[in-house]
Amino acid sequence: MSTLNDVARLAGVSTMTVSRVINDSGYISPETRARVNRAIAELGYMPNVLARQLRSKRTKTLALVVTDIANPFFTTIARGVEDAARARGYAVMFCNTDESEAEEIEYVRVLIQRRVDGVLLVPATDSSGSLQLLREHALPVVVLDRHVRSALVDEVLTDSETGAYLAVRHLIDLGHRSIAILTGPATVSTAVDRVAGYRRALAEAGLGAESEQILFGEFNEASGYEMTRRVLTAQPRPTAIFAGNNFIAFGAIQALRQAGVAIPDGISIVVFDDLPQGWVLDPFLTVVSQPAYEIGKQAAELMLERLTGDPPGEPRTIVLASELIVRRSTAPPRREVAATVPSLRAHMENPA
Ligand code: RIB
Repeated sequence: MSTLNDVARLAGVSTMTVSRVINDSGYISPETRARVNRAIAELGYMPNVLARQLRSKRTKTLALVVTDIANPFFTTIARGVEDAARARGYAVMFCNTDESEAEEIEYVRVLIQRRVDGVLLVPATDSSGSLQLLREHALPVVVLDRHVRSALVDEVLTDSETGAYLAVRHLIDLGHRSIAILTGPATVSTAVDRVAGYRRALAEAGLGAESEQILFGEFNEASGYEMTRRVLTAQPRPTAIFAGNNFIAFGAIQALRQAGVAIPDGISIVVFDDLPQGWVLDPFLTVVSQPAYEIGKQAAELMLERLTGDPPGEPRTIVLASELIVRRSTAPPRREVAATVPSLRAHMENPA
């Protein structure tokens, strides 16, 4: 049986355009509409009529699906979503997937049945299983924080690559030459983008990226602890750690404390993610801060524009800047620590 994708491919348009032709929503040029209708006729495509009928009745409810509801980054995103939605008379349902794609797809099925008007999704991986399901039920979606491979969909995220580049360049400017990065799974775009920024900063400084200093784990405390234990046994031991998110950093700090390694005297650490203002009275960590509230607010506004206004044309990508905030967890490598790193030892003996 032909799918929405087949029609889009034959007509040479996005699936969003096909959905708009079927739902007669938003501006579509006459020639595009004719092309899509020819493709529908040629393929004998039967749109999900029930979904379309259901869709016509608004429930004034959005859903936000995040991957770790305990993470203050996502609760701050939720605050931004809810403020924007409530201002327009919409309620918000919150769902947590624990970084599991299976959980995510299960929740998407529930949300389709519960007839929410739109889904704001932080995807657990870069695959598009959930987006396909949402598309087949003509349910609008905005992707947050992470990118889904080859998906033509509205998205709002931070520029992780640049943020990571600034974090690692800060360490290099302090004199570090041996830096480990601890991050999430290679199936998550924010992990991949942060490693890319890390590599760019090293390459720019003429430093090679040692594969054993690039660790892909999980975005959680236990993985941060385990990855740091591995880093501490490396010979030579890195003089600095770049933690790919806040929870990885918490695990890393626990491991460093247990090993009696002081921060920054024994090892410097810079973290992707800050903690919300006021959560820590005397913040110590050097961080790359993400505009989490703005990510949520702008994602909700993009969704509401599609639901209530003149839907914008093709899907849009909004990339927000992150900010390096230097505090006290990073410092130049101490001489005796640096002496354990051959490239640093040579640099110290011949500082020219
Ligand atoms: O702590 C949350 C951040 O780390 C988000 O960017 C999420 O994608 C994870 O990478």
